[in-house]
Amino acid sequence: MLNSNQRWTVGLIGVGHVGAITRDALSFRSHVVTYDIARDLEYPDADFAACDFLVVCVNTPPSPDGDGAADLSQVHAAFDRMPPGIPAVLRSTVPPGTTDMLAERYQREVIFWPEYVGETRFVVQTMDQLNKAPFVIFGATASPALSSWVDLVAECFGPLVKIYQVPSLEAEIVKYMENSFFAVKTTFVNEFRSLCDSLGADWQSVREGWLLDPRVERDHSDAFRTAPGFGGRCLPKDVAAILVRAAESGASMPLLNAVKEINGGRVRPAQPVVEIMPTAAQQS
Ligand SMILES: NC(=O)c1ccc[n+]([C@@H]2O[C@H](COP(=O)([O-])OP(=O)(O)OC[C@H]3O[C@@H](n4cnc5c(N)ncnc54)[C@H](O)[C@@H]3O)[C@@H](O)[C@H]2O)c1
Repeated sequence: MLNSNQRWTVGLIGVGHVGAITRDALSFRSHVVTYDIARDLEYPDADFAACDFLVVCVNTPPSPDGDGAADLSQVHAAFDRMPPGIPAVLRSTVPPGTTDMLAERYQREVIFWPEYVGETRFVVQTMDQLNKAPFVIFGATASPALSSWVDLVAECFGPLVKIYQVPSLEAEIVKYMENSFFAVKTTFVNEFRSLCDSLGADWQSVREGWLLDPRVERDHSDAFRTAPGFGGRCLPKDVAAILVRAAESGASMPLLNAVKEINGGRVRPAQPVVEIMPTAAQQS
């Protein structure tokens, strides 16, 4: 229910990279109460019971089995402790079908809201990414809770941001398709860089010529000598996870399988990640 300041109250579970971004965005127009298992000794039962929404931002790392599947144990742990009846909003990247499974298993409405502001190694992209994310996607079916949630997010992000709403299955696939595409593109440019190096051609001249065509986007267009292939905390795990889900469903993805294999063979030292600049809300 809107409080006396016309604000919703939101409980946020998991204050890591995505949780911090989400907290700051929602704080513009709602009162946000946070809980992180690594930081807070007590679960805020009473505060969460008074929330209008509970937003889950926990991680979905590769399964310890080593098969590449997404490990949903943090998501289940978050849902296990939630007070009943309050709609949940899921920000974690989860395999297709997970949102519906959670709604059924925990008997609560679940809105899937994938995150697109990733981590970056490039200083210039950091604030730009935050300021210019031109869309949000909601995977959900129509309901009063969804309408309220769309209102809240629309008020936080403003009218320039397109709100795209589809069933959760489609939204889950969209998120994996995005990261898989960047993995494919990165593998592709690395192959051409290697061709350039073999032929004695200057890679940056070739790349800039390629980018003259406005149909080719600049994002993920470079291949770095010190960091070949794709890395980071999302692309490798998400490519592996969607391949597992595809195999379970009987779908064949030979291109993505090859990309995973090619990338798996690369030696890629860990790269420092640029911290997203703290907002005034975070600093206080
Ligand atoms: N990092 C990115 O750039 C990025 C971008 C888009 C999507 N995602 C997705 O968002 C999700 C979160 O990623 P992240 O990078 O923020 O992870 P993270 O590891 O930085 O943060 C997760 C946080 O959740 C906390 N946590 C774990 N279990 C908990 C529980 N039961 N209760 C409360 N807190 C708990 C952890 O202590 C941690 O602080 C993942 O599914 C990831 O794939 C990440």
